[in-house]
Amino acid sequence: MMFLKDYSEIIDQEIRKIDFPNQPANLYDPLRYFLQLGGKRIRPALTFLAGELFESNFEDLKKAATAVELFHNFTLIHDDIMDNAPLRRNQATVHERWNSNIAILAGDVLFVKAYELLGNCDPKYLSDLLSVYSKTAREVCEGQQMDMDFENRRDVSENEYIEMIRLKTSVLLGCALEMGAILGNANSEDRLNIYNFGVHLGIAFQIQDDILDLFGTPEKVGKQPGGDVISNKKTLLSILAKTLASDQELEQLYALETETNTKLKVDSTISLYNKLGVRESCALKINENYQTALSSLQLLTTSKNKKSFYNLAEYLLERDF
Ligand code: IPE
Ligand code: IPE
Ligand code: MG
Ligand code: MG
Ligand code: MG
Repeated sequence: MMFLKDYSEIIDQEIRKIDFPNQPANLYDPLRYFLQLGGKRIRPALTFLAGELFESNFEDLKKAATAVELFHNFTLIHDDIMDNAPLRRNQATVHERWNSNIAILAGDVLFVKAYELLGNCDPKYLSDLLSVYSKTAREVCEGQQMDMDFENRRDVSENEYIEMIRLKTSVLLGCALEMGAILGNANSEDRLNIYNFGVHLGIAFQIQDDILDLFGTPEKVGKQPGGDVISNKKTLLSILAKTLASDQELEQLYALETETNTKLKVDSTISLYNKLGVRESCALKINENYQTALSSLQLLTTSKNKKSFYNLAEYLLERDF
């Protein structure tokens, strides 16, 4: 059995092997910079885990897993422009260190490179791989647009929020797993169940990401603390806070939306959320999705040991980084 660390080493190695040209330096330096910042590499780990379960060809798995990680990094570079984020993985974001035009193109190259790698997989799997991957890529864009639209709305419901994070985050975890399963000739039922495992794990993962954005230890999370609050993002925290607040507290929450002193804005939001106990309500929702994820896992028809899936899921939900 392999562990997350083994998989992330394989992916780091695969990424280093990619022979990006040197020129134009302002195109390739930024993406090399970003890729070597690391990250948890959980999406490629999911592809490998699914591949182990269905005994997929390892060479193809490496290509698909690397493609997923490159795609993920592309979304992060563009997401940081959209979210005005100065920090990522404890270092300056690409648009901050260079500029937004450079960050757009660096992201584009990663997106194309991901397609190129995937296209090198065994042709007998290509049509299935490209179909789930392309649909996922389009859905991530839909989720990202909803995320931006929600910044300017006050009436976003919990269901709308869940749909938004399913699209911007969860479908990529599902896709990473399903690609590993496709490469092992999994039947359509198993493909769907492993995809659904990823989607529910992803929903739990994104709620946790929202919590860490506000309550995490900055050095561990590696992003600007309270970034979501500063940009009036709709998170499960912010949505539940509104449902739990008294009229007076609701007024306070609305007033904070236009607060220009960001430290005051973040600190006041934290104390209001603490008073309302929203973190605890979010934890329930995380657990609910975790359980749903596990039930999809149990539906898989393969008799192989799924222990590493449980380990990974637990590692993700207990993380503080
Ligand atoms: C960040 O993903 C973006 C989200 C979908 C929450 P990760 O938390 O997996 O980022 P890295 O790759 O480990 O930095
Ligand atoms: C990111 O959501 C989802 C994608 C990158 C597609 P966030 O905006 O919450 O991710 P972080 O917190 O910046 O990593
Ligand atoms: Mg962001
Ligand atoms: Mg974002
Ligand atoms: Mg976030």
